[in-house]
Amino acid sequence: MPIDFGADCRPLFSIESDLIFLNNGSFGAPPHSMLEAQATYRAMAERSPISFFRNKLPKYLREAAGDLGAFIGAAEGTLAFTENATTGINSVVLSVAHSLRPGDILLTTDHVYGAVRQTLNRYAEWTGAKVVEVSVPFPLHDSNEITEVIAAALTSQVKFAVFDHITSPSGIIFPIQDIVNLCRERNIPVLVDGAHAPGMVELNIEHLGADWYVGNCHKWMFAPKGCAFLYTAPERQKETHALITSHGYGKGYAAEFDFTGTKDYSAFLAVRDALKFYRENGGLEKIAAYNRNLARSMRRMLAETWNVAPPAPESAIGSLAALPVPENLPANEETGWALHDELFGLHRIEVPVTFLKGRLWVRISAQIFNESNEYCALAEALPKAIISVQCRL
Ligand SMILES: Cc1ncc(COP(=O)(O)O)c(C=O)c1O
Repeated sequence: MPIDFGADCRPLFSIESDLIFLNNGSFGAPPHSMLEAQATYRAMAERSPISFFRNKLPKYLREAAGDLGAFIGAAEGTLAFTENATTGINSVVLSVAHSLRPGDILLTTDHVYGAVRQTLNRYAEWTGAKVVEVSVPFPLHDSNEITEVIAAALTSQVKFAVFDHITSPSGIIFPIQDIVNLCRERNIPVLVDGAHAPGMVELNIEHLGADWYVGNCHKWMFAPKGCAFLYTAPERQKETHALITSHGYGKGYAAEFDFTGTKDYSAFLAVRDALKFYRENGGLEKIAAYNRNLARSMRRMLAETWNVAPPAPESAIGSLAALPVPENLPANEETGWALHDELFGLHRIEVPVTFLKGRLWVRISAQIFNESNEYCALAEALPKAIISVQCRL
């Protein structure tokens, strides 16, 4: 029986009952049943460790990759599991870094996730390459503005590009097919950071045509934490290596990524249970649609209440949405955290305050356990929290 969404399904999740949790986006929230499924894989590994690691794990991983691939449109042999999006991204950037020369450009945008920025900067320092962040307008009036600024920056000096499918600080869905097409036309290798995409938007990764695509299953797909994937196009697999070198090095893409030493592989195996939960509860048609409708309507309500303009077209909004902080506060990360702490500490609302383009933004998430009254509580609490922070400055 499919579950009812909203407060009725909240008891299926571990989130504290008095917490208004509007930040599924950062780390996700698996239902208890997923943690139980994970525990059965852990128990299996402990019951007969040698046969588990030698015989069962390789087979189970490929079966899990097959199931996941059917959901995201990628052949099983193109998918590798990684603990998180960051590990997948680091594996790709390290693999690419070997061929970089001083003066080469690594291109991304200024909406890039902080850890990805750090990764690019690290390998740029190592190779003498330069990181260029294209400025993507925010507020954004039309998604074409994104492709225009990116197209202008894709020069012959660009040797590698990373673009978000759905951005973290601003919560917008990029026109990723157009962006990948631009890179392909220019023969520029491109990695798509789709950390937020699986379970939020429909995916057909092979059709997209990027060289690499990284996604998290623990954000919007209900998998336990520590379940992400790296897609690598067949023609890139030879040059793409796991961040951790282990027995599989030189034995092919899947062999290299499938075993990276003794660790807990249970979250990878539980992806099949997460897919089952996702399917049984209506799949994209119901889950992604519920979240998208809630995020969009609550964005409209908050914008009206706070008298601010929504900073992106509604068509660019999935289950995440950012709104400008409505009052004059010094805009910096520290004030953002002060506002967050005030909302969390005094109002029991968990919502991130991001800092982008010299402004503070409140980024809401909508997951199946959320419902409108929680955003109404935020609508009331934010002006009070702003006054409290102002008084302390
Ligand atoms: C766009 C984006 N990329 C990468 C990541 C990193 O994900 P993880 O913590 O699973 O490595 C995040 C996390 O929120 C993200 O939003």
